[in-house]
Amino acid sequence: MRYLLSFLLAYVLFINTANAQELKSPNQQLTLSFSLLNDGTPTYRLMYKNKEVIKASKLGFELEKDPTSLLNGFTVSDTKTATFDETWKPVWGEVANIRNNYNELAVTLNQTSTNRKIIVRFRLFNDGLGFRYEFPQQNNLVYFTIKEEKTQFAMTGDHTAYWIPGDYDTQEYDYTISKLSEIRGLFKGAVTGNASQTSFSTTGVQTSLMLKTAEGLYINLHEAALYNYGAMHLNLDDKNMVFESWLTPNANGDKGNLQAPCTTPWRTIMVSDDAREILASKMTLNLNEPSKIADPSWIKPVKYVGVWWEMISGKSSWSYTNDYPSVQLGVTDFVHAKPNGTHGATTQNVKKYIDFAASNGFDGVLVEGWNVGWEDWFGHAKDNVFDFLTPYPDFDVKGIHEYAKSKGIKMIMHHETSGAVRNYERHMDKAYQFMKDNGYDAVKSGYVGPILPKGDFHYSQWAVNHYQYAVEKAAEYKIMVNAHEAVRPTGICRTYPNLIGNEAARGTEYQAFGGSKPNHVTILPFTRLIGGPMDYTPGIFEMDVSKLSPNNHSHVNSTLANQLALYVTMYSPLQMAADIPENYNRFPDAFQFIKDVALDWSDSKYLEAEPGDYITVARKAKGTNNWFIGNVNGITPRNSTIQFDFLDKGASYEATVYADSKDAHYKTNPQAYTIKKVIVNSNTKLNLFSAPGGGYAISVIKK
Ligand code: NOJ
Ligand code: CA
Repeated sequence: MRYLLSFLLAYVLFINTANAQELKSPNQQLTLSFSLLNDGTPTYRLMYKNKEVIKASKLGFELEKDPTSLLNGFTVSDTKTATFDETWKPVWGEVANIRNNYNELAVTLNQTSTNRKIIVRFRLFNDGLGFRYEFPQQNNLVYFTIKEEKTQFAMTGDHTAYWIPGDYDTQEYDYTISKLSEIRGLFKGAVTGNASQTSFSTTGVQTSLMLKTAEGLYINLHEAALYNYGAMHLNLDDKNMVFESWLTPNANGDKGNLQAPCTTPWRTIMVSDDAREILASKMTLNLNEPSKIADPSWIKPVKYVGVWWEMISGKSSWSYTNDYPSVQLGVTDFVHAKPNGTHGATTQNVKKYIDFAASNGFDGVLVEGWNVGWEDWFGHAKDNVFDFLTPYPDFDVKGIHEYAKSKGIKMIMHHETSGAVRNYERHMDKAYQFMKDNGYDAVKSGYVGPILPKGDFHYSQWAVNHYQYAVEKAAEYKIMVNAHEAVRPTGICRTYPNLIGNEAARGTEYQAFGGSKPNHVTILPFTRLIGGPMDYTPGIFEMDVSKLSPNNHSHVNSTLANQLALYVTMYSPLQMAADIPENYNRFPDAFQFIKDVALDWSDSKYLEAEPGDYITVARKAKGTNNWFIGNVNGITPRNSTIQFDFLDKGASYEATVYADSKDAHYKTNPQAYTIKKVIVNSNTKLNLFSAPGGGYAISVIKK
């Protein structure tokens, strides 16, 4: 009784019930409550199947030069609810049809002392909550500068987190799995490699953040539709287990300049007691606007090879010459520079890749290091290195275009910006036009090194606006974009489906820079891929990097079968076969899977999933009756039983199973695989083995 009384008292003190609102998800399993504290601070709380997922958490903003800010003193002046249910077709995707079904609550808040208004809009789906702040047009809030967004996510306990350290400039980290209370102690050790670590708190992490509670509830925190705003990190108060939004600052330290009317990105909380539902969720896409590209017929999934791994491994170079500074951008006698003899992007080498692409059914060839500037850039971060137009003397733009065209291959452009954002913007129109003139309709861009002008960060409002500008400008030229080192995606590919790829996480390149954790690929789909596809560049068949580049002793921590599975588990409409042709020619039977695997899907079934341990997914190739299955495994050897009940009843299929041998191991025996063919139907069950760092891939072709 005493307990009940104090509970009631706390409830009365805490919640001003007249201003409390409740919203249920369409299936009634999620409940969102909104309420004002007695001082007029807005709060929200989230329940899943009658259990608390997010405890009462505050909402609001600190504003620059504005002591009142937008923190408290609010009253509710209006509430509106709505229901939405619609099915839409993505231009490319994991499924042909996406259902967007939510209940909405929009709360209009009045700050009486300042006569300012904000709206908090909640959308509650069956798989989670999205909410954002809206600043309607009004007299007393027009131009304003954010000092800090104060959105809280109050955890219900010391959950397990799959995290990478907060950083304004890189996301290319291995994940750490730990309790929330352990982040502080592990933070320093988690900051590795070429991480930049600009002034970050030691309990700050990046989104998308995956969490698991002791009761087995899976929670994912991220954001959707990040436009004109700094990317959000989450800073943990590890005494109270409360995360708070921590925006990436602009160069001058502020956290964003806004002008009403405007909105923030959506803050997203996915929740399920089944990890597979987190992977299958389309909430992030659903919180983005429909496509703004009226005729998307020029946007096509791309399977490609490229002059790339040979540079990443150190075998060949991006630069044509080691002369510096005798050669300068734009100097017409560049031809007199002394060749270093290791340049990768030579016409002859590119033609070899074009031949390989053509004879194996690929769509495109990427070539890096084709243009003047690399010799100037390394070690000399400056603002005018690349013009994206001037080829090295041994790269024949026109000849390569004609050769590729004659073989039915599309060339993929490379724009390394060297982080010089303004330089890229100054050259962008000419660079895109140059692409069109020479038969390129996709670009891989990159932002290596500190952002220039100096002092800005990769994920600031200013930089976010640049990446968006590049994507929209590319759409005008009918160019597809795959940006590396840009901000982590937030579902914008729904609105601009020409954004066919991003890196924004630790990709395969790190396997040549010391290696990644063998279970990395069992976490990425739960984190980085929540916002959109990744250009992970899988398909390495030779794990001993020194075989390619004798001084590089890095090891690719994956079995060959695991590399095949990635084409299915790492969903992307853009997939690279990253190894060199010579290595594919050594293993033609395994390479067959990469040749066969589809890029675009009408259906996807997540069969098994546990972050850090394993993911198994089956996908149906769009416009066919064929399925492709991929399994990636963490470090514990594992058997899984796959039921083929997703196949058409009564039909039979030929399955080709590419699996780890019993003695396979990512470190000691990565190339041990078996291939067998079996006839399967919807009643079949197969027992399959995955080695440490291993997995399997299966093509299932209808007879
Ligand atoms: C880093 C990118 O991730 C990699 O793919 C590229 O080759 C280099 N930058 C050079 O631009
Ligand atoms: Ca990178």
